[in-house]
Amino acid sequence: MAQEDVFKKIVSHCKEYGYVFPSSDIYDGLGAVYDYGQMGVELKNNIKKYWWDSMVLLHDNIVGIDSAIFMHPTIWKASGHVDAFNDPLIDNKDSKKRYRADVLIEDQLAKYDDKIKKEVEKAHKKFGDSFDEAEYRSTNGRVIEHQTKRDALHQRYAKALNENNLDELRQIIIDEEIVCPISGTKNWTEVRQFNLMFSTEMGSTSDGAMKVFLRPETAQGIFVNYLNVQKTGRMKIPFGIAQIGKAFRNEIVARQFIFRMREFEQMEMQYFVRPGEELTWFNTWKEQRLKWHKALGLGDAKYRFHDHDKLAHYANAATDIEFEMPFGFKEVEGIHSRTNFDLSQHEKFSGKNIKYFDPELNESYTPYVIETSIGVDRMFLSVMCASYCEETLEGGETRVVLKLPAALAPVKLGVLPLVKKDGLPEKAREIINELKFHFNCQYDEKDSIGKRYRRQDAIGTPYCVTVDHQTLEDNCVTIRHRDTMKQERVAISDLNSIIADKVSITSLLKTLI
Ligand code: GAP
Repeated sequence: MAQEDVFKKIVSHCKEYGYVFPSSDIYDGLGAVYDYGQMGVELKNNIKKYWWDSMVLLHDNIVGIDSAIFMHPTIWKASGHVDAFNDPLIDNKDSKKRYRADVLIEDQLAKYDDKIKKEVEKAHKKFGDSFDEAEYRSTNGRVIEHQTKRDALHQRYAKALNENNLDELRQIIIDEEIVCPISGTKNWTEVRQFNLMFSTEMGSTSDGAMKVFLRPETAQGIFVNYLNVQKTGRMKIPFGIAQIGKAFRNEIVARQFIFRMREFEQMEMQYFVRPGEELTWFNTWKEQRLKWHKALGLGDAKYRFHDHDKLAHYANAATDIEFEMPFGFKEVEGIHSRTNFDLSQHEKFSGKNIKYFDPELNESYTPYVIETSIGVDRMFLSVMCASYCEETLEGGETRVVLKLPAALAPVKLGVLPLVKKDGLPEKAREIINELKFHFNCQYDEKDSIGKRYRRQDAIGTPYCVTVDHQTLEDNCVTIRHRDTMKQERVAISDLNSIIADKVSITSLLKTLI
């Protein structure tokens, strides 16, 4: 099945099973804004807990905060967001559709990558096990031609971005003959900068009202609180501050479901270090964050680092952790060495001394900062994409199953009485009343057992137990494993010990140490 179709299925699966709904659905939705349903909120909370605990529980030098969404507007002047938090946009004059110029060019780069991938796959099929990919890539004429064009485009694009050269971005679009996907024409406007921050007014009187912004990142709430936390928490460098919260960006092009939203959630951690030590810490955090992702078992080959061609105005090193979505490798997390830019700017704009006194060195300095910043929604999407599975079973029957990591699954155990009578529902309720203190259980008595299994498979429940007449006599149930569909008879008294460990975030966290 084409990856595009797989993605469409995932989007409709998310709606059908209570994971994600379009915002304001009965009013036909609101562009790039989504609501999480009864299953989605559980998965999202589990992702957040996994992240939070991995930061705050596992590191005795990292603490959390929860800062306000509204902040003093000067903060955004100091951080550079008022002047430089822009995307280059371009309009097609025929379709009147607006695009990000950089995204159009990156899509073109991906097309070259696709062509190369297809050539390599074709050759792999033809030559079988004896296929030497490296040799093929360096000798095949067509691959070399695509690669040369790609590299030249990449070099030209990176230069234009670094020099903020909007005319050159437009020229690249013209030279590459990139067309509007709607009108099919190359009738493009100039490229212009567009600021992504939402603003509103605070205060009631017209002369007393102040223009404030909805934060486009949670990080600034950490920077302006760093000294409060350092002093009250008696933190010594190196130390970190973690935060989970909403961020808002007026994205020009809303695309790919919850991948690019106008209201989304970030999990950010700023790690304050001695000047000169930042690149060592940058590498440490790169490694730690990749390990956190891989521990979920979604497949190591689905991750890669992508080092930035154009560094943000605040960074001296930056990389993305990309995940292979059905629409290609895409950024899920950014790791940035932000230098002392933000703290120095806040010192300058606030006029307050926010230097750190290092008792070991007996000197004051502005700390350097390593940031890890991951979008909850993108993480959610990557988990969904990797877990969605359509399987053909023996006998030709098919099932849709979400093979979610057990620790993240919204429901851990489905409890199903074989029939709705003879005391079986009461026994099933008894089991839930015992286990619900340990993990999330769901009771279901409607339809055949087979249909109920399918419903639990579709929401990703790792275990189901069936309560039958025999249960009333021997206090045993049949447990069914989601992925293997294997069934076994176990004592009710053993259920907690069989399941709790496998579905707990704690066991996932233990793999990180
Ligand atoms: N404080 C640094 C910062 O905000 P970023 O690379 O702009 O860096 C960090 O964003 C992460 O936030 C991204 O890797 C992505 O997961 C998430 N993110 C950014 N914009 C988003 C959007 N419009 N919709 C959903 N997630 C987004």
